[in-house]
Amino acid sequence: FWTPANFVDVTVDELKEQVGKDKVVLGLSGGVDSTVAAVLLHKAIGDQLHCIFVNNGLLRKNEFESVLDQYEGMGLNVKGVDASARFLDALAGISDPEEKRKTIGRVFIEVFDDEAHKIEDARWLGQGTIYPDVIESISVNGPSATIKSHHNVGGLPDFMKLKVVEPLRMLFKDEVRRVGASMGIDPELLGRHPFPGPGLAIRILGDITPEKVSILQEVDSVFINGLKSWGLYDQVWQAGAILLPVDSVGVMGDERTYEKCVALRAVESTDGMTADWVHLPYDFLQKMSNEIINKVKGVNRVVYDISSKPPATIEWE
Ligand code: XMP
Repeated sequence: FWTPANFVDVTVDELKEQVGKDKVVLGLSGGVDSTVAAVLLHKAIGDQLHCIFVNNGLLRKNEFESVLDQYEGMGLNVKGVDASARFLDALAGISDPEEKRKTIGRVFIEVFDDEAHKIEDARWLGQGTIYPDVIESISVNGPSATIKSHHNVGGLPDFMKLKVVEPLRMLFKDEVRRVGASMGIDPELLGRHPFPGPGLAIRILGDITPEKVSILQEVDSVFINGLKSWGLYDQVWQAGAILLPVDSVGVMGDERTYEKCVALRAVESTDGMTADWVHLPYDFLQKMSNEIINKVKGVNRVVYDISSKPPATIEWE
C-alpha cells in the first residue's frame, strides 16, 4: 500500500536510473510542489540537480531572502537570481491584467533561459507538476504554468528542449505534502498558502510601480503575520491584500488627505475552483485595520472582501 516513505524510496531509485550521471535544471518558486520535487531529486542525484530561484520583484516582503536561506539550509544546490528590476521595468505602464501576466511569463522565460545556459551540459528539466496539473494540462501555480502558456512566442527557448522529469506527476497535493513531511521539509513551508505566479502584480490594480509594490508588501506582511500570530493562518486556504486604484479621503488634523485604500481577502477552499470568504473575527479585523493604517504610510482605509467564488474570483484581476 502507498506510504510517503515507500514513495520516496521507489522514486529515488527510479530517478537514479532515469537521470544517471546527467545534470538537471529546476526552477524553484518557493511553493510546495517545486520544493518537494527538488528535495526528492536532490536525494536521488545530489548536486547534479541545479536549482534556480528567480526574484521577480513581486514576491511577499523578504520572501526571496528568507526562502533562499531556507533552500540553502536544506542543502539544495540553488542559485538565487534577483531580476526584480528587469520585471518591474518590463511592467512599467501596463494596467491590463492579461498583459501583466504575459509580460511576467515572457521575462521569466528569458531570465530562466539565461541562467539555464550557464549550467553546462544540462540534459533534463525538473518540474513540480502534480496530478491535477496533468489532468487539467494547465496548472495555475508555479513556473510550469507560465512556461506552458507562453511557449508559442518566437520559438522554444533552449531549456524547454530539455527532457522533462516530473517525479510528482502521479500525486495529489495532500500526498505531496505528506511526501515532503516524510523527507523532513519544514512544516511551515509545506503549509504555505498558494500564491499566484505573477505575485503581487495581479493584486495591484492598475499599473505597477516600485512604490506600490512596497506599500502592498507592507500591508500583506501585517495581514499574514497577524493571521499567524492569531492562530488563524492554517484555517485559511489563501489570504492576501489588494491595493486598489482609488485614493480615498481621510482626515489629518483639520486637513483632508487622499490616500490609498487596500482590501483584505481570506478564503476557504479545497482546490481554488470554488471558494468562500472566511468569517474572520471582528476583533482581528479591527486590529489589522489599525495596524495597517498606523504602520503603512500612504494607506488610510482598509476594507474586507466578503465575496465568494463564484461569481467572484479569489484574485481581483
Ligand atoms: P482565481 O482568481 O481564478 O484564482 O479564483 C484561483 C487560484 O489561482 C491562482 N491564480 C494564479 N496562479 N498564475 C498563477 O500561477 C496566475 O496567473 C493566476 N491567477 C490566479 C489564485 O491565486 C488562486 O490560488
